[in-house]
Amino acid sequence: MEVIPLGSGFAAELRGITLADVASDDAAYAAARAAFEEHSVLVLRNQDVTDETQLAFSRRFGPPEVTKVGSEGTGSHFVILSTIGPDGKVVPADHRMQMRAKANQLWHTDSSFKRVPALTSILSARIIAEHGGETEYVSTRLAFERLDPDVRGRLENSFAWHDYAHSRGQIAAGLASAEERAALPPQCWRMVWRNPVNGRGALYLASHAYAVEGIEPAAGKKLIDDLTATATAPGTSYLHEWRKGDVVMWDNRATMHRGRPWPSHEARLMIRTTISATEADGVGIMHPPSWQAAE
Ligand SMILES: [Fe+2]
Repeated sequence: MEVIPLGSGFAAELRGITLADVASDDAAYAAARAAFEEHSVLVLRNQDVTDETQLAFSRRFGPPEVTKVGSEGTGSHFVILSTIGPDGKVVPADHRMQMRAKANQLWHTDSSFKRVPALTSILSARIIAEHGGETEYVSTRLAFERLDPDVRGRLENSFAWHDYAHSRGQIAAGLASAEERAALPPQCWRMVWRNPVNGRGALYLASHAYAVEGIEPAAGKKLIDDLTATATAPGTSYLHEWRKGDVVMWDNRATMHRGRPWPSHEARLMIRTTISATEADGVGIMHPPSWQAAE
């Protein structure tokens, strides 16, 4: 296996390895896992992707999430990100499926609004839009390391509230349904996620984050906005232009990402699997101490 850095200080392409290799071979998994911890975003090109191979690859990294209510693929291990309706035609620009694609265009990390946050997401391109539709990534680890030491120390002991309804509300009122809101109560997470393998901290931020514990609401919101602006500063991102057969996986503990727009009449179909973070991934100390005591 070859690891080719993609030139933004994080993100790398893995060559000479397939999804099936990682699924079936311990040494291949160990090599891919080490690259994942180091580079945060991994790109595998020219893969022969089926739902089964994607899931077998994904399972190596931990327990797969079950897709939440209100998402395409609910109850399965797959999130179907599609703008194609049941009749095979692209749905209109104001359709819920298109609005949800818009919400994915805000900088975020996946599943920070869930009771168990995500270690990694694995995304495969099945139908690619002709124009645009890239996925853009930033390293919140590098962003954290750019901050002053005293700010880093303060953030490490600060906690932010994350809510799915908040990010969806930025696109359209009511985009998160009552059923989704009931299933996904707000979660409070430490603002820095320390990687237990290499000890490096990363800002844990997302469009889902709306408040900072113990800080007046407007000031908390401003802190989140300022940190997001720092983390997503121009020139710091890796922009992935999708080709057929591409699979990209990313570390939700150490990156943020956003979808880029594409013409709404062009079809696009992406399949995501998502792996929950476990104790070994450092999730144990992410809730505030008071919250941990209550559990
Ligand atoms: Fe996402």
